[in-house]
Amino acid sequence: MPPRTTEPRVIVALDFADLGPARELVRRLDPTLCRLKVGKEMYTRYGPHFVEELIKAGYEVFLDLKFHDIPNTVAAACAAAADLGVWMINVHASGGRKMMEAARERLAVASHRPLLIAVTVLTSMGEGDIREVGYAGTPEENVLRLAALAHGAGLDGVVCSPREATALRAAEGADFLLVTPGVRPPTASADDQQRVMTPADAISAGADYLVVGRPVTKSPDPLGVLREISAQVVAASAGG
Ligand code: C5P
Repeated sequence: MPPRTTEPRVIVALDFADLGPARELVRRLDPTLCRLKVGKEMYTRYGPHFVEELIKAGYEVFLDLKFHDIPNTVAAACAAAADLGVWMINVHASGGRKMMEAARERLAVASHRPLLIAVTVLTSMGEGDIREVGYAGTPEENVLRLAALAHGAGLDGVVCSPREATALRAAEGADFLLVTPGVRPPTASADDQQRVMTPADAISAGADYLVVGRPVTKSPDPLGVLREISAQVVAASAGG
């Protein structure tokens, strides 16, 4: 396990439109087996109080708001997230070095310092999409370039596809966190994810943390699925 990775390595994505089912799921999960990811939908509907509720229930929270703005604004937003007590936050690497450095510097003086990671190229974007916004090269080349920029700006890691984990681990070394969505247990549906990897393969490829949503959140037995994934992660970590 890379030096800075801590258990639990599974992050359950809480993608719900309504509070009731989200709370019900959280009650059924176990903070020793997972962290929770709150994204733009739930945060926009239910705000900081919902995040505080999850933290009070014993969960560490990845606030996935992907900030991208002028450096001062992003730094202030990161400080606000730190004050909430979240475990991890993220920004778009394409916001540039100054933006990422401003965020990191502001967090360095915060009372609580969440992990700060970057989004490189959204996995929804293909070669044509990135060319259209003016990037030369393949998506993979841009992922590696933006990850190096994020690392150089002092960020703790990146969100990436498990398919990119091996190359990123080789390029950025053991101490750079790789957080991978697009993970599916061998028996689960891929849903709308185009390219998925099993938890064991993602860990073997170098992922530190796995973001898993629907295989857990849509299951009639979410804790059972979470236990199964955790066991696969532990086995793969021991093997690696
Ligand atoms: O349900 P599922 O496991 O597909 O959920 C994956 C989560 O990770 C969702 O919250 C999705 O927005 C997020 N995500 C992703 N692919 C990325 C970045 C984030 O699936 N490249």
